[in-house]
Amino acid sequence: MRDAAPQTIYLKDYTPFGFDVTSVALTFDLHPTATRVTSRIAFAPKPGAAPEMFLHGENLTLISAHIDGVAVTPDVTPEGLTCPVPDTPFIWETEVEIDPQGNTALEGLYMSGGMYCTQCEAEGFRKITYYPDRPDVMSTFNVTVNGPHPVLLSNGNPVTATDGHAEWHDPWPKPAYLFALVAGDLVAHPGEFTTQSGRKVALNLYVRPGDEGKCAFGMQALKDSMTWDEQVYGREYDLDIFNIVAVDDFNMGAMENKGLNIFNSSAVLASPETSTDSNFERIEAIIAHEYFHNWTGNRITCRDWFQLCLKEGLTVYRDSQFTSDMRSTPVKRISDVIDLRGRQFPEDQGPLSHPVRPESFQEINNFYTATVYDKGAEVIGMLRRLVGKQAYDAALTLYFDRHDGQACTIEDWLQVFEDATGRDLSQFKRWYSQAGTPTVTVTDSWTSGVYTLTFTQDLPPSATTPTPQPQVIPIVTGLLSPSGDELLPSQVLELTDRTQSFTFEGLPERPIPSVLRGFSAPVVLKHDLAEDHTAFLLAHDTDPFNRWEAGRDLARASLRSMIREGAAPDAKYLDGLRAVLADETLDPAYRALMLGLPSQSDLARALHDDGVTPDPDAIWTASETMRDAQADHFADLLPGLYTAHQVQGSYAPDADQAGQRSLANATLSLLARREGPDRAQAQYNSADNMTQQLAALAVLLRQNAGDAALHAFENQWAHDRLVMDKWFGLQVMQATPETVVKIAENLTQHDDFNWKNPNRFRAVMGALATHHAGFHHASGAGYRLLADWLIKLDPVNPQTTARMCAVFQTWTRYDTDRQTRVAAQLDRILALPDLSRDTTEMLTRIRGS
Ligand code: PHE
Ligand code: ZN
Repeated sequence: MRDAAPQTIYLKDYTPFGFDVTSVALTFDLHPTATRVTSRIAFAPKPGAAPEMFLHGENLTLISAHIDGVAVTPDVTPEGLTCPVPDTPFIWETEVEIDPQGNTALEGLYMSGGMYCTQCEAEGFRKITYYPDRPDVMSTFNVTVNGPHPVLLSNGNPVTATDGHAEWHDPWPKPAYLFALVAGDLVAHPGEFTTQSGRKVALNLYVRPGDEGKCAFGMQALKDSMTWDEQVYGREYDLDIFNIVAVDDFNMGAMENKGLNIFNSSAVLASPETSTDSNFERIEAIIAHEYFHNWTGNRITCRDWFQLCLKEGLTVYRDSQFTSDMRSTPVKRISDVIDLRGRQFPEDQGPLSHPVRPESFQEINNFYTATVYDKGAEVIGMLRRLVGKQAYDAALTLYFDRHDGQACTIEDWLQVFEDATGRDLSQFKRWYSQAGTPTVTVTDSWTSGVYTLTFTQDLPPSATTPTPQPQVIPIVTGLLSPSGDELLPSQVLELTDRTQSFTFEGLPERPIPSVLRGFSAPVVLKHDLAEDHTAFLLAHDTDPFNRWEAGRDLARASLRSMIREGAAPDAKYLDGLRAVLADETLDPAYRALMLGLPSQSDLARALHDDGVTPDPDAIWTASETMRDAQADHFADLLPGLYTAHQVQGSYAPDADQAGQRSLANATLSLLARREGPDRAQAQYNSADNMTQQLAALAVLLRQNAGDAALHAFENQWAHDRLVMDKWFGLQVMQATPETVVKIAENLTQHDDFNWKNPNRFRAVMGALATHHAGFHHASGAGYRLLADWLIKLDPVNPQTTARMCAVFQTWTRYDTDRQTRVAAQLDRILALPDLSRDTTEMLTRIRGS
C-alpha cells in the first residue's frame, strides 16, 4: 500500500494532546504471526478537551474497543482511530492483533533470530497498539507478557515471573517511544552496581546462547558509565534493575528504552578475538550514551520530535566527555572532528541541510542526523566554553531540578542557562535555528606594538535559512612566540558581530596566533597566514588539536596543488610530520592520527569550495602518491616504529595498548608500500586478536596479496556474523576504483549476504558508497549497483534504505557526466509506485528541482 500523500509537519503547529494518560496496562500474548495486545488506558480529559479522541495506530487489526466497559466502534483509518469519548475520566480498552514475523521494517514489535523485540522511537509504538504516540504524553506502565520463552522482559521493575508469564511495573512516567519488550531464549550475563546512595541495582546483559563470552567488556562499560554519571553529573540510577539486550537485526546502534536498553549486537558484543580496538571504544561510548539517556532523554524528555537535539545533542556531548575522561582527550577530540567533517559538514552544506532544531519534516526517522546529534553536541560544547565549567554545572543541576519528569523544549534548556548565568542567549539561540556551516576568516596585523586579530563570519543562505544572521562563535585563541613559547595562554574570544577585531598589547614581539584551539566552534576556518605559519604550528603548537590541525592543513594544501597543478608532495609537510612521528614523548595514538590524510570526499569538498570540479580519479591518484611519499620520506624510521610499538603481554582494549597498535598498524601499511606484503603476512599468521588480524588483512588486500588470508579468514569466522560483516566490508574498502563495484556485486551473490540484515547490507553497500573513487567511477556502475539494492531494500526496510540514500547528497559537486548518471538513478528510484515515505522524502530533497 502506498503511503498517503506526504504530509509536512511543522514545529509552529504544535498543540498539546487534549487528554492526560494516568496509567497504562498492556498484556501481550505472543505469537509469531498473530500476537494479541490488550490495552487498558486511563484517560482524563483536560479542560476544553474535544468530545472525540484520536489515537495513532498503524498495521493493527482491531479486535475490540471499550470505553468504561461498553463496546464502541471507532472510525479507523490507516493512521489511527477516532472515537467519541466522555468529558470525564474514563477507561479505554482495546484488543488488537499484530504480526511480528511479517514486520521486516524493524519498527514496532518484530522478530530477530527467533526472539521478539521492539523498537518504538520515534513513532513505532503505534504499530503495537492504539495510543497517543507522541513524546509529551507520559504515563506509568504495567506490562504483562505471556509466551513460551525462558526470558520475558519489559521496562521498569519485575513484579512476578513464572513459566511463560511475566509482569513488569515501570513507576517512572514515560512517553511511549521508551516502551520495550523482549522475549526469547536468551542467556544473562549478570552484574551488580551499588549507587552512591546505597541502592543495589541488578544488571544483566542478555545475549543469544553462544555469545556469553562477549559480554564482560560491555558490563564493565556499563558500571563505568554509572559511576561517571554519579561523579560528574550527580545522576543516580532509579530502578532496581537495568537490562541490556543484544539483537542482530537493528536499524541503528542502540536504544535507551527505560530500564531495558536494546542494542544492535555490533554495539555491545565484544571479545579480543572478534572485535577491534575501535569496536571496543565504540561499544564503550554507545553503552555510556544509552545509559546517560536515563536522565537526559528519559527523566527529562522532548516535548515533540523537533526538540530531538534536546536529548541527543546533550547525550552525545555527555558521552564524548566520558570517553575523553576514560581515554585520551586530544585523541577523542580529533576523532570527533574527523567525524564531524566527514558526516555533518557535507550534510550542512548540501541539499539535506537543516537546523539543529528543524522546523518541519515529513518523516521524523530521516532527522536522526549528524546535524541533530553531532552539531547538537558541538552547540553544547560552545555553551560550556562561553559560560565556563562552573556555570555549566550549575545550569545542569538547575535543569535536572526544574524539569525532572517533564517533556521539554530548547527554550526550556536555554532558559536554565540564562537563569543560572544571567546571560542573554537570544543570539546564541541562532545555532539552533540557522542551518549551514559558518566560515570564519581571520587576518592579523602588528602595528606599533599592538597585535590585532580580525575575524569575519559568513553563513551562506540556504533553503531553511534564507537570511542568515551573525552567530555567537567562541574562538579559543593562544599566542606563541617565534621560539614556540606561549606568550598568551588560551582564551575565549567571543565573536558576535559579522566582523570584529581583538587587540593584544604589551607583547614583546609579533606573535604567532593559534586560532580555534580544540576546534572550539563547528566552523570552517580560513586564513591567509603564510604556509610557514602552519608549519610552525605543526612543530610548536602547545594545543594538541591545533598541532594536528596544522598537519591536516598542510596535507590538504599539498594534495590540492598536486591535484590542480601536478605539484610534488610538499616537503615542508613531510619534514614536519617526520619530526612528530619521531617524537617519542608524543602519544602513539596521536602520532597515528597525525599520519592520516584528509578523506577523499573531504578533498572533493575542498576543491569544490575552490570552484574546481573534483575529479575522483585525480584525488585517488594524489592520495596514493602522498602515501608513497610518506613511505619514502619516513623509510628509515618506519621499521623501528613498527617494532617498538608491538604490544608485549596479553591483549587489553585500553587506550594505551590501542594507541600502540594503531601506530604500529599505520606504520605497517606504509612499510608494505616499499617492501611488499611479507611483514603483513607474518602479522596475519601470528595475530591473536582482531585488531592485528584485520589490519594485516587490509594491507594484504591492498597489496593484492590477500587471497589466501581472505579464505582462511572466512573459514575461521564463518560462524560469527559480526566478524563476517568485517570480512564483507573490508574487501570493498580495500579494493581499487576499477575493481570495487565488481567486488561488491560478487559479494551480494555470496550465500551469507543476508541483505535484510541492516549490518550486513551496510557492510557491503555502505563500504561501496564510502569508496570515493570507486563509487564515483565514471561508468556510473557504482551508482547503479547501489540504486539496484536500494530499490530492493525499500519495501522491506524503509528506514535503512532512506539513511543510505544520504550518500548521494554531494552529487552536484561532480562533473555533468556524473551528475547525469546520478540523476538517472535517483529518478529511477523516485519513479517506483510504492516507494516509502522515508525514501521519497530523502531522494526528493537530494534530487532538488
Ligand atoms: N535514540 C537512539 C539513540 O540515540 C537512537 C535511535 C533512534 C535508535 C531511532 C532507534 C531508532 O541512542
Ligand atoms: Zn541518543
